Amino acid sequence: MRTPFLLVTRSCKAIHRLQQSAFVSPVSALYRHQTNSVLRNSSTVSCKDDRSYYITTPIFYVNASPHLGHLYSAVIADCLHRYKLLQGFNSKFATGTDEHGLKIQQAAAAAGKDPLTFCTDVSERFKHLFNSCNISYTDYIRTTEQRHHQAVKHFWSVLWNKGLIYKGSYEGWYSTQDESFLTALQVGDAVDSSGNEIKVSLESGHKVEWMKEENYMFRLSAFHAQLLDWLKGNPQAIQPEIFYQVVLKWLQDDLPDLSVSRQRSRLQWGIPVPGDAEQTIYVWLDALVNYLTVAGYPDIHNQWWNVAHHIVGKDILKFHAVYWPAFLLGAGLPLPQTIYVHSHWTVGGKKMSKSLGNVVDPLERSKQFTTDGMRYFLLRQGVPDSDSDYTDDKAFKLLNAELADSLGGLLNRCTAPALNPAQVYTAFCPQSFPSEQGGRAVGEDYHMLEAVKNLPAVVEQHYESMHVYKALEAISACVRQTNGFVQRHAPWKLERSDITDQRWLDTIIHVSLECLRMYGTLLQPVVPEISDKLLSRLGVQPDERGLADVNFLPKIRGMDCPFEGRVLGSDTGVLFTRLENLDRDKQNPKKTKKAKK
Ligand code: MSP
Repeated sequence: MRTPFLLVTRSCKAIHRLQQSAFVSPVSALYRHQTNSVLRNSSTVSCKDDRSYYITTPIFYVNASPHLGHLYSAVIADCLHRYKLLQGFNSKFATGTDEHGLKIQQAAAAAGKDPLTFCTDVSERFKHLFNSCNISYTDYIRTTEQRHHQAVKHFWSVLWNKGLIYKGSYEGWYSTQDESFLTALQVGDAVDSSGNEIKVSLESGHKVEWMKEENYMFRLSAFHAQLLDWLKGNPQAIQPEIFYQVVLKWLQDDLPDLSVSRQRSRLQWGIPVPGDAEQTIYVWLDALVNYLTVAGYPDIHNQWWNVAHHIVGKDILKFHAVYWPAFLLGAGLPLPQTIYVHSHWTVGGKKMSKSLGNVVDPLERSKQFTTDGMRYFLLRQGVPDSDSDYTDDKAFKLLNAELADSLGGLLNRCTAPALNPAQVYTAFCPQSFPSEQGGRAVGEDYHMLEAVKNLPAVVEQHYESMHVYKALEAISACVRQTNGFVQRHAPWKLERSDITDQRWLDTIIHVSLECLRMYGTLLQPVVPEISDKLLSRLGVQPDERGLADVNFLPKIRGMDCPFEGRVLGSDTGVLFTRLENLDRDKQNPKKTKKAKK
């Protein structure tokens, strides 16, 4: 099951060795090694045994409208899905809505709607947000669907038939908001907004209530040792590492059996326990099975289930890293390959909440910043290991600096009619920029080429560990270096009537266009629309945009460049329109056009 990733790791090590050698051997020698063919083929070669990949987001509760944090989970998953497609994988990407449970039942009642109508309305809102933000899911699951009911009932029956579920009685704390059972140690005292003393979950801060009822229990305690073995044998299973450690720490404590049903008299909005109409299946057991439903369970599901990866927020880690693997072990099914965990977005330093009035509506913001702007901001500023703070100001500054000025500016320079009157992918002159120093290029230029050439391997490493922000940081640093390269050689000062100057000018543009082609290719998972605009402007056809097509700057190695001499794409529009941060009127920021150089 893990073969593809072992192979990826091995190929990454090979790349790493080549990168290391780059520091001790001259750049020219590096080019003679033709490492690009290694980079080009690293993914294809490494994954030839299994080309399927399955990635999921958590399914979203429909008791409230989508906010920025929800979009963040979805954008990360979308980015990894698109990246896998670029690598040539057959990738399945599931998202959807979690529609059962007490809090949904209560929210529907408060809205005066029948639960299914209520769920459909909110589920459609999530779908609309995801469609608007180019979340390219391949399956949108709702837990109220028939296929899911069948999967959950089957899953339950498997556990039951194995004697892993027994009838018992639960007495303890329950948080409806988190749909979670808590031990006394997980509960603390607090005062609610009306001044009443209440008990709350120490982790989420949500109110808890004492509950005593007959229900079914899952033998979670029986899986304690197996869970530990799994984690110790798979240190990559939970990423980033900080969360792996958190789970290991949880597993140092006892693991009591888990209640997996509620009395029907209290909870009607859910899937009935097979063979006992008086009980409803616990909403988390129901919800987690959605990942299997999408994979095809209980029918043939191995193609996807063997290569499953989950994206989850830190608040739902225990459900995914303890309960879910235990359920799966109980049912005799493989465990997910990776659980990628992300931290949360705060706003103005505070947790987003309706009562504080600081909930950020991602749809409204993506209208301001554009969809790609919103995606770029979330992935560039979101650090999985710790919480990130959202402010409009940060978004304006980041997007203007990196998308409008740096990337957009570079494209403008290389395609401006003043420098490129023929509007073509200009020719590269090996005498001006030889593979070894001696032409008009200087040491810094060779360093830039080396950084850009290594970028696919660097980006792959960061994407694989969900550190998308590091991948974007590396790309952004290279864009800055390429701008520095153009600035250093000031092609606008060259004498066009002089043939050697003209060749050098064309070479500067050729190299810059090659860099831009690299950035456009690697940025596709993050900003699909901007990348499309960029690559189309460079004349790169849709079937030339995979990672295997990157083959950076072949001319410096004496090889043909298929793009050289091509007419540039005709869309001369601005890549990313500069945003004006109007503190005076943040609701309706105007846009200004950035003057072309
Ligand atoms: N329904 C459960 C998940 C079941 S999966 C089998 C659930 N839903 S949720 O709507 O409350 O949360 C969905 C995702 O949004 C979680 O990954 C959660 O961490 C994420 N976020 C909710 N608030 C967030 C932020 N403020 N910031 C980032 N992500 C956050 O839990």
